[in-house]
Amino acid sequence: MSSYLRLSGINKTYGDFVALDNVNLDVAKGEFVTFLGPSGSGKTTTLMIIAGFEQATRGSVEIEGVSLSGLDPQDRNIGIVFQNYALFPHKTAADNVYFPLQMRGVKRAEGLKKAQAMLELVGLEGFAHRYPKELSGGQQQRVALARALVFEPDLLLLDEPLGALDKNLREQMQIEIKRIQRKLGVTTIFVTHDQTEAMSMSDRIVVFSKGNIEQSGPPLDIYHRPTTRFVADFIGESNLIPGHIANAAEGVVESPVLGTCRYLTNGQPSVSNGDEVAVVIRPEHMKLSRNPIEGRSNARMTIDTIVNYGDNALVIGHAGEQPIRVRVLGADVVILHEGDECCFSWTDDAVFLVTS
Ligand SMILES: Nc1ncnc2c1ncn2[C@@H]1O[C@H](COP(=O)(O)OP(=O)(O)OP(=O)(O)O)[C@@H](O)[C@H]1O
Ligand SMILES: [Mg+2]
Repeated sequence: MSSYLRLSGINKTYGDFVALDNVNLDVAKGEFVTFLGPSGSGKTTTLMIIAGFEQATRGSVEIEGVSLSGLDPQDRNIGIVFQNYALFPHKTAADNVYFPLQMRGVKRAEGLKKAQAMLELVGLEGFAHRYPKELSGGQQQRVALARALVFEPDLLLLDEPLGALDKNLREQMQIEIKRIQRKLGVTTIFVTHDQTEAMSMSDRIVVFSKGNIEQSGPPLDIYHRPTTRFVADFIGESNLIPGHIANAAEGVVESPVLGTCRYLTNGQPSVSNGDEVAVVIRPEHMKLSRNPIEGRSNARMTIDTIVNYGDNALVIGHAGEQPIRVRVLGADVVILHEGDECCFSWTDDAVFLVTS
């Protein structure tokens, strides 16, 4: 991948506190990258450093090989939408969008024309003359998006821009942002702690934890091949079951809970015989049955709780001390009851290992 934006060895400390610890990241031109991670993991700090509102303690930010250090935020040609990056209340939508052009010395007539075109792109034709207080939350965010894009930024940074919106509007805006981003081809970093949002919008997800990048990859890779316990646990639901490698060459792990468990060696972390690992099996890749199912690996569990979602149900139980979660189709759940002992089963290709 050729790198457009490059973060190299970024460190950020506040007194003794290390907010970012050696963050390295390459983003390709036109890529839509999402930073995903728990609260306090360093997502906003990283964006602020890229935008120039914060200085890194160490490390560099480059666009096309040119360092941004020493450039003030307004000289970086970066479009920004933050959750609370308010519009100017005394300017109309059109004047809000015109503002960054005005800062760049664009004449009013020409600037307003561009602002109008951008408002159309975000679906707000006819709203140009309105003041922010005359717009809904979603419309205000669209104006903010138009304002961030009108000057054709090298980079678009979005920090939880949809956090304040209700679920329907949020989903609608997710689709809108994706559409606009594709249309303009602008390199984008989007911050969220909503994993479905990250899964559905991104070319690539970068998972942050405690000031570090834990893993970076296409959404489905992150989902199907998490490389650490943290990612396996944070993205989607997981069963993380302790075991040790019995035969690394043939893909066999021994686990008190699962017994002898086979896995496909392809795409797994490198392991040696005897290594302690966590076996990961997603709840939706397990089945429940009264008796062992032939052709699948089976183990026994006791059902503690059944959480019904209508079209599917989450069955939470235990095998010895180990909690087990299985997602079953709604129709299958009627044969199961809390307190029942049953079999859970899986296939080799549903098994992956994490080692750290
Ligand atoms: N000015 C500051 N002084 C001291 N600590 C700070 C400062 N700014 C951020 N931090 C700390 O740095 C860490 C990373 O903060 P950051 O805002 O980047 O987290 P985040 O991943 O964006 O979290 P959230 O999802 O809650 O927005 C946090 O522990 C935070 O308390
Ligand atoms: Mg944040």
